[in-house]
Amino acid sequence: MSRKNAAITGVAGFVPERKLTNHDLEQMVETTDEWIYTRTGIKERRILEPGLGLSHMGEKAVNELLQKTQTSPEDIDLILCATITGDMIFPDTANQIAVKVGATNAFGFDINAACSGFLYALHTGAKFIESGTYKKVVVVGGDVMSSIIDYTDRTTCVIFGDGLGAVLLEPNDQYGIQDAILQADGSGVEYLHAKSGGSKMPTSEETVAQGLHYVYQNGGPVFKRAVQGMSSTVKQVIEQNNLTKEEIDWVVPHQANMRIINTVASQLDFPLEKVMQNIEYLGNTTAGTLPLCLRDYEPQLKPGDKIVLTAFGGGFTWGALYLTWAYEGKNFS
Ligand code: UT7
Repeated sequence: MSRKNAAITGVAGFVPERKLTNHDLEQMVETTDEWIYTRTGIKERRILEPGLGLSHMGEKAVNELLQKTQTSPEDIDLILCATITGDMIFPDTANQIAVKVGATNAFGFDINAACSGFLYALHTGAKFIESGTYKKVVVVGGDVMSSIIDYTDRTTCVIFGDGLGAVLLEPNDQYGIQDAILQADGSGVEYLHAKSGGSKMPTSEETVAQGLHYVYQNGGPVFKRAVQGMSSTVKQVIEQNNLTKEEIDWVVPHQANMRIINTVASQLDFPLEKVMQNIEYLGNTTAGTLPLCLRDYEPQLKPGDKIVLTAFGGGFTWGALYLTWAYEGKNFS
């Protein structure tokens, strides 16, 4: 039996209606639209209504995905959900999404790799398809960052937003996920984390009073490592697949900061027209950035397009994944 690739056969996404603009943030912290836009490339981000949780966005996106791909929910074998802001500490949100969409025959689990979560989950999902046992795997990536952001901390609240994307993976003879390089360095915890709410420092009145449940980021070192990690793994995945950069149709970078995206593109000598970007109006949705880029650019994608996805985030975690696109995006628009 010949080995099948796992190909993306559909993509969908959900972002909340409510916009938080740079001008709104000017009223909340000491910042300016000019600072935010020139330092990050972000103009607005979306905020989920409190109390809904990640599974709400997952339900919306997966229902759209099933409709677009004409898939019945009972046919889904597995749902993987990449997130750091699941509905609850436990159980996982993948199975909350499954119950909401009627995926009664699916099992599922969450993957916590912060901004690289979708990359890790896509690679994991591909392995289940390649095993030959599973035929339909849904990979979800998204975060409700507004649930863990301190809106008095100008160094983090200007960057992050809420949003989620989802893809369907199915076996394919020709196209699909070809290769991935995934890396991690746990010593990065120092620079990017939420200190309390886990087993090491359970939530208490004191931790809440000190705001230790919020995202802490030392942006400078993260910026440098992000550029280095994404550039080197993209280069490596291109080389080890005997490709040239000219042959790559699209690079899909994690949307953390437009200056990071520009620097990576410039180091790799990729024209920005080939680099997917939606940071300006969505901000950094953590595990949501890559699938939401695919959703936004889907109408432009063609069968055989060579695409490299890359991300960097908390952990540290980072990597690059090379795939060939399987369908005419316009068919679904
Ligand atoms: O997605 C997960 C991975 N995360 C990332 O990849 C994020 C990587 N880091 C970054 O994107 C950037 O480091 C930030 C956007 C977070 C910060 O930008 P920066 O250019 O590195 O700024 P900085 O931290 O070096 O701060 C420069 C100045 C400081 O003032 P002083 O000390 O020079 O007087 C900050 O206090 O800018 C100040 N500052 C602000 N000013 C206005 C920091 N945040 C703001 C703000 N508005 N929102």
